[in-house]
Amino acid sequence: MSLEDITNNIQVCTKCSLSKSRTLAVPGDGPVDAELMFVGEGPGAKEDTQGKPFVGSAGTYLNTLLGLIGIKREEVFIVNIVKCRPPGNRAPSWDERNACLPHLQKQIQCINPHLICTLGNTALETLTGEKSISRIHGSLLRKENNQFFPMYHPAAALHNPALRVILESDMHKLKNTLDKFESPSYFSEINNTTLDPFLH
Ligand code: URA
Repeated sequence: MSLEDITNNIQVCTKCSLSKSRTLAVPGDGPVDAELMFVGEGPGAKEDTQGKPFVGSAGTYLNTLLGLIGIKREEVFIVNIVKCRPPGNRAPSWDERNACLPHLQKQIQCINPHLICTLGNTALETLTGEKSISRIHGSLLRKENNQFFPMYHPAAALHNPALRVILESDMHKLKNTLDKFESPSYFSEINNTTLDPFLH
C-alpha cells in the first residue's frame, strides 16, 4: 500500500470512537524515504484543527531538539500512536491504541526507517512493551526488525528543566547512533543478531 493510500485511509477512519470527536485526523508528516521516524502519543488541540502532528508548543521544542543535531524537521517522519485527538488530551486507551495500530504498522512498513524514536511512555509501551522510560531512555532497543530509540516526550520537558537536560543529552546520543548507521557494515552485522518479538 502506498503512503498516500495509508494517509487517505487514516483521514476517513472510523475504527474507534475518537473519530467522532475529532476535527481532523492527523496521519503524520514527512518524506516517504525518511531514515528517522518520531512517534508521539496523540494529537493535541492544535494538531486536531490543522491535521498535522507536533504543531503546538511540544512541536516547537521538538524542532529545537532536531536543530541541536543539525536535522531539519522536513527530513524526518513524524507520527503518533493514535491519529485522532483524545478528548481533553487524555492518554489513549488500549482499545483506541489497538484500533489505530494497523495504520502505524503500515506506515512503518512503507517508510522502513532505520530508527524509530519513541517520544514518551505511551509510544514506548505500545510499540515495544517496555514500561520504564526512565531506565531505557537514550539507548538503542531492537525488537524484531525494528530499532527503537526511546526518549522522553518533549511536552513533559517544557516545564521541567531537569528533563530538558536529559532530552538534549539523549538527542546527541541519537545523533551518534544515526552516525553509526552510516557505517556500511552496520546493517549486515545486526541482521545476524537475534531479535525480540515486535508488538504484543
Ligand atoms: N503531542 C503528541 O504526542 N503528538 C502531537 O502530535 C502533539 C503533541
